[in-house]
Amino acid sequence: MVLTEKAYAKINLYLDVVGKRPDGFHNLETLMHTVSLSDELTFELLKREPFSIELKIEGNDNLKADESNLVFRAVKEFVKHSHVDGKLIITLKKNIPVEAGLGGGSADAAATLRALNRLSKFPLDETKLYEMAEKLGSDVPFCLKGGFALCRGRGEKITPLSPLKNLHLVIINSGERVSTPDAFKLIDQSKNSELQASPNEKYNVLSSITEGEMNALFNAFEQYILPTCPRAKKAKEELILCGAYSALMSGSGPTVFGIFDDFVKAENAAKKLQSDFDKVFVSGFID
Ligand code: C5P
Repeated sequence: MVLTEKAYAKINLYLDVVGKRPDGFHNLETLMHTVSLSDELTFELLKREPFSIELKIEGNDNLKADESNLVFRAVKEFVKHSHVDGKLIITLKKNIPVEAGLGGGSADAAATLRALNRLSKFPLDETKLYEMAEKLGSDVPFCLKGGFALCRGRGEKITPLSPLKNLHLVIINSGERVSTPDAFKLIDQSKNSELQASPNEKYNVLSSITEGEMNALFNAFEQYILPTCPRAKKAKEELILCGAYSALMSGSGPTVFGIFDDFVKAENAAKKLQSDFDKVFVSGFID
């Protein structure tokens, strides 16, 4: 039995860190949208063999196919609550840049939970899958369903929104290294990480983005991370010069994206920027 599942990346159109929690994590307010850039996972179940997991990774030589991989951890979490009878051979075709602020690992974990549930004829309901997703990582619950949502708490308190349409993206990963825990530390050390706005102004920013107005994008990490990532900073500037309506860093970086109202404009920008950057993707918002 063979089954294929896509794992879609996310971008943050708004990301504010609103406080540190007793468990060491941070409470966020973030607008996340699924985009068409994706990994592909294939699951093959050899029924006559005892349960074991074999993970193969294509497209990224730096990623380890061992128990540290979120795909592996998602399988382990799934089999705590349901059976998988046989040898599971998983092939992960990696297209989403890693440690990039695009939620690639989280998307892979969520895709694994969805696929195993499908492979096992849906023994677990949505609530159970969400509980498992929460244990695997802050962005995994959002990635289970995807679309457009306001996410609060660590990211697990999800309010679905109507997906954005008729906009085009150019996503550029600069390849610079950013550690997410260190990015949070930078925010902790600073006094003015949050969007300096009254609750009313904040509400207006959130609702304008929700309605597709892209001139109020915000990411609290940007002011700390972009000065340490000159290539990502340059990519953001270049996106605007190439006609992006707006550009922003995603997650804790170092990926930036530009929003275009016209597909041809986005494609031309991507073609131009491919001479300067290795990882340039034309993409779009999806449900
Ligand atoms: O949950 P995830 O594995 O994505 O988080 C990676 C790291 O980022 C955590 O170990 C934590 O240091 C930090 N983090 C945080 N608050 C969040 C999400 C992540 O402090 N809401």
